[in-house]
Amino acid sequence: MRSLQQLLCSTFILPAVYAFTSTPFSPPSIPLAVRTPYLSAWLPQGGSGVALNAAWPQFWDGATLGWAGFVKVDGVPYSFLGTPSVPAAKFNLATQQSVTFTATQSTFVLAAGPIDLTVNFLSPVEPTDLVKYSIPFGYMAVSAAANDGKSHSVQVYSDISAEWVSGDDSLTVNWTSTTTGPILTHQVQLEDQTLFGEVDDHTQYGSAFYSTPNTVSATFQTGQDVVVRAQFINNGVLANTKDTNFRPVSDDWPVFGLAHNLGTIGTTASAPVIFSVGHIRDPVLEYVVVGGTQDRSLYFWSEFSTAAEVISEFLGDYSGALSRAKTFDAQVNSDASAISTKYAGIVELSVRQVAGAIEITISKEANGSWNTSDVMVFMKEISSDGNVNTVDVIMPSWPFWLYSNPALGKFMLEGLFRYQATGLYPNKWSVHDLGASYPKALGHNDGADEAMPVEECGNMLVMSLSYAQKTGDISQLQRYSALLDQWTQYLINDSLIPGDQISTDDFAGALANQTNLAIKGIVGIKAMSVVWGLLGNTAQESNYSGIAARYLPQWQAFATSTTGPHLTLDYNDESSWSLSYNLFGDKLLGLNLFPASVYAEQTAWYPTVDNAFGVPLDTRHTYTKTDWQIWTSTLMTNTAARDMFIEAVYLWASSGTNNAPLGDWYDTIAGAPEGFRARPVVGGHPGVVNTSMYLSGGP
Ligand SMILES: *[C@@H]1O[C@H](CO)[C@@H](O)[C@H](O)[C@H]1NC(C)=O
Ligand SMILES: *[C@@H]1O[C@H](CO)[C@@H](O)[C@H](O)[C@H]1NC(C)=O
Ligand SMILES: *[C@@H]1O[C@H](CO)[C@@H](O)[C@H](O)[C@H]1NC(C)=O
Ligand SMILES: *[C@@H]1O[C@H](CO)[C@@H](O)[C@H](O)[C@H]1NC(C)=O
Ligand SMILES: *[C@@H]1O[C@H](CO)[C@@H](O)[C@H](O)[C@H]1NC(C)=O
Ligand SMILES: *[C@@H]1O[C@H](CO)[C@@H](O)[C@H](O)[C@H]1NC(C)=O
Ligand SMILES: *[C@@H]1O[C@H](CO)[C@@H](O)[C@H](O)[C@H]1NC(C)=O
Repeated sequence: MRSLQQLLCSTFILPAVYAFTSTPFSPPSIPLAVRTPYLSAWLPQGGSGVALNAAWPQFWDGATLGWAGFVKVDGVPYSFLGTPSVPAAKFNLATQQSVTFTATQSTFVLAAGPIDLTVNFLSPVEPTDLVKYSIPFGYMAVSAAANDGKSHSVQVYSDISAEWVSGDDSLTVNWTSTTTGPILTHQVQLEDQTLFGEVDDHTQYGSAFYSTPNTVSATFQTGQDVVVRAQFINNGVLANTKDTNFRPVSDDWPVFGLAHNLGTIGTTASAPVIFSVGHIRDPVLEYVVVGGTQDRSLYFWSEFSTAAEVISEFLGDYSGALSRAKTFDAQVNSDASAISTKYAGIVELSVRQVAGAIEITISKEANGSWNTSDVMVFMKEISSDGNVNTVDVIMPSWPFWLYSNPALGKFMLEGLFRYQATGLYPNKWSVHDLGASYPKALGHNDGADEAMPVEECGNMLVMSLSYAQKTGDISQLQRYSALLDQWTQYLINDSLIPGDQISTDDFAGALANQTNLAIKGIVGIKAMSVVWGLLGNTAQESNYSGIAARYLPQWQAFATSTTGPHLTLDYNDESSWSLSYNLFGDKLLGLNLFPASVYAEQTAWYPTVDNAFGVPLDTRHTYTKTDWQIWTSTLMTNTAARDMFIEAVYLWASSGTNNAPLGDWYDTIAGAPEGFRARPVVGGHPGVVNTSMYLSGGP
């Protein structure tokens, strides 16, 4: 994936000193442009902190994304982004002073001699605006101010490489540049495209775009990395020339450069120069329907007909986007800070990671018009399996959707419901996911998906009811009541004594009689009772309520350890225990099904088994999960126990033991990663903000 030159560079320019401040803390990796499963650019940090110009940005999986930046100050060149090597030109490294992240922004301040450069990466999170949310672009805004009280001449340059369009750098790309009109845009794509294809999790079709307003001073150039960068470093302007020798990504590394002359800059910060980076595919996904598949496109197409229009709208909207982002960031910070400052940091780091794991789609009507009544949201199970809309990955992320806009959750469930309502899926329990490989939502008509029967039936019931409770919209419950009832039948059969099966924590293996799975199942049965109540079927309401009530004492007798007052991992395994995070459903739905004594016992128990980096998932291993610890924290009956879990997740997130986008699975003794990264399950981290708030408010 990397050239020898890039490898040497990133090896030699190591982050020698941790000289800058990281606020609110130094995370494993900092989001730069994170909007979709395929627009996902990060800066690895690894605890000691890595300056913006001391590593290449990376795709979430660690592959290099060429994204470079230089500034010239009174003729002296400095690099501020990436680690380019340019043999034909000498330049300095700007010195990073600070990095700050909020829910939607990462802001770096670097001193380039007498100029302080502020580089702001904004990945908008616009939960209630489906058009804006679905535009797969991020901003980089660069502004300069003198730090010595004098005035200086400043030019700014940035480029991207073609690494943004493929997981295979040996493939040929072509490109075009639009250089007339109000916006300069470089567009690059694979010459040989594979619709819905992936290589190493990178998409293999569609186009990347790098754009900036076409001001009087703006210049552009495409060509070999060392040539285009040397042109700016030596001259402070680009040559306005186009390289049309289309070639593989790594063949003399073509880059797509843009530059601005900011003119004379004093102590007042200049208006920012805006760059937008994005990646558009169309259609984004194929969805299984009776007799075939349906192509689905991003929602924004209902308002725009060309990529140029979208880019124009996106760049033109920068100040509006920034102001909305500030409002959203402040709301998240204030809500989460009500718990603690550390908790706020965890939530802020998690927002772009979860928000950027989905795509909001619509279909076309028979006559070719967009059908905006037909919204479905798809999530990629990033890093673990790459499945489409994995039910037990949507479930942990659910708190974020409830918090930000519950309708997004409804649209996520819709594809699962609609597929299973066709009858194409043969099992009596809920499907695990909509397709093995994103973005192919082809279903599992052979019924051979990863079976998690109790897990997924319970999840679908909990999520669909919580959406209805939060919004008062019972239309989805009405439409799919037969499926929900069928899954409840399954739970009635198989959740008091759960068979030998896996839970969402599939890496821990299958086990019979899992206490925590039984909780999910019983919560599900009770949830269906509430659903039937909302739908006016009082007979089934009281029937299911009665079944849940009868199961409860039986479950409690099976699940309570005889040797200590705590729940077991599995029945008749007295010394075992686990995180009983599925009680979160009882809280979330306001069921009050499980007795207070259970909560009290668990609250007293976990502090006795807390390791250096938190409480293990269960007695089989020393590893744990961040999402389940945060969920469990919401069940604690005192703040000390709650904060113990939050401290643990904070310690893991800030400990510097790895440099991948926040992982949710790690070891509680060594604080070492177990392999997952960048997964949307971190949407569960807002789970403490706060359980009762789900029923009443949110922004
Ligand atoms: C680049 O390749 C795409 C896909 O094959 C093709 O549609 C397009 O016309 C090509 N563009 C140029 C400028 O050659
Ligand atoms: C397609 O049909 C819809 C009604 O279903 C109508 O509103 C729309 O104008 C039609 N579009 C075209 C292009 O005919
Ligand atoms: C639009 O989508 C909705 C939801 O799938 C569907 O019920 C409706 O028939 C569609 N409208 C048209 C005109 O295709
Ligand atoms: C539940 O068990 C009954 C009795 O064994 C069986 O007939 C029914 O098919 C089962 N239902 C589901 C959904 O598993
Ligand atoms: C599950 O627990 C029940 C109740 O204690 C017990 O009868 C059954 O044998 C257990 N099943 C397994 C496979 O251990
Ligand atoms: C209650 O539900 C169970 C499970 O579906 C069913 O077997 C039973 O007949 C129902 N009871 C009544 C009184 O409807
Ligand atoms: C959640 O919100 C409710 C109502 O605003 C408040 O009474 C409660 O203390 C909050 N819980 C936490 C854990 O902050």
